[in-house]
Amino acid sequence: MNHTNVTLRVNEVDYPISISTERNLSGVLRETIGLTGTKEGCDDCECGACMVLLDGQPINSCSYLAVQAEGCAITTVEGLADGDELHALQRNILEAGGVQCGFCTPGMLMSARALLDRTPDPTDEEIRIGLSGNLCRCTGYARIIDAVRTTAVELSN
Ligand code: FES
Ligand code: FES
Repeated sequence: MNHTNVTLRVNEVDYPISISTERNLSGVLRETIGLTGTKEGCDDCECGACMVLLDGQPINSCSYLAVQAEGCAITTVEGLADGDELHALQRNILEAGGVQCGFCTPGMLMSARALLDRTPDPTDEEIRIGLSGNLCRCTGYARIIDAVRTTAVELSN
């Protein structure tokens, strides 16, 4: 395997690392950088558990080579909170009961964040479409959609 030196910028911090050119971004984030909030489910672009933002766009990091992310701003779930203060999406999804096993939650949050960044006042249909790449086995989605709607209202006031 070829190794290379790259610097990945994650949540506004630079991480100079040496990695195999074949490694995926989710694995590098979790195992090399130590940010384990990003989850790995299917490892095949199906479940959205590994969703992170790359220059603000949601991507499945299981299916993205880490070396290709050099030069981009990577945002993971660890980058949502402001110190000890949860992001409104995090607070509202907790309060709505939209977290059960929690495995899908980091990916859901990142898709929801990208949705609200591009569509601050989404319809329920737009929320469903925005989260359509994220599978949840536990909640039935209604509480998650409620949380995104509540957050949109809260952030617009
Ligand atoms: S782990 Fe990446 S889409 Fe499922
Ligand atoms: S809360 Fe369990 S998969 Fe979504």
